[in-house]
Amino acid sequence: MNKIVILVGSVRKGGNTSLLAQAFAEGAKASNEVEIISVADYKVNPCIGCESCMKNEESRCFQKDDMQKIYPKLAEADLIVIASPVYFYGVSAQLKAVIDRLHTPLRNTFKVKRLALLLVAGAEIPTVFDSILHRYQQILSFFHLEDAGMILVRGVRAKGAIAGNKALNDARYLGAHI
Ligand SMILES: Cc1cc2nc3c(=O)[nH]c(=O)nc-3n(C[C@H](O)[C@H](O)[C@H](O)COP(=O)(O)O)c2cc1C
Repeated sequence: MNKIVILVGSVRKGGNTSLLAQAFAEGAKASNEVEIISVADYKVNPCIGCESCMKNEESRCFQKDDMQKIYPKLAEADLIVIASPVYFYGVSAQLKAVIDRLHTPLRNTFKVKRLALLLVAGAEIPTVFDSILHRYQQILSFFHLEDAGMILVRGVRAKGAIAGNKALNDARYLGAHI
């Protein structure tokens, strides 16, 4: 049984990212161990670039915040799912803080082999996900990870606007066949 960790980057509880992640998790739970990590539940400071984690044997970060709870969860995951709203053509700041805190030798101990991507955006424009997709491809390539699939949902702005959207079924299907 694979372990899947879904990083949900929206602080809006019950919002579109969260509903999309839940649909994926529903599909995946039948044959995987699935954990949703909602950034709203953790206090994670941005990386300050001191590189102290690179100078001690345990790769410890000097910041004693909730990232210490997230590291072991990510370390055990076979598949990490990045779920985020588009904020100014990027992922949310809260999720970016978690990602930047992975700039540590600790990540060399992680089991992860695959990533998946779940994104929501208020706009309908075709290019709204391009900058995130470009970064995603670079991360896959740099870390020799495989893309396990993605669901990209345009035109959902208000909280819960994704309800009834076909994308929820697509996410459930992706989860079930991951
Ligand atoms: C700070 C902020 C920046 C946003 N930037 C964009 C953007 O660049 N493009 C876009 O299409 N939607 C943008 N949105 C809209 C959100 O992506 C959209 O409302 C999404 O459904 C929110 O997801 P959530 O319900 O999971 O929080 C922005 C929303 C916020 C709060």
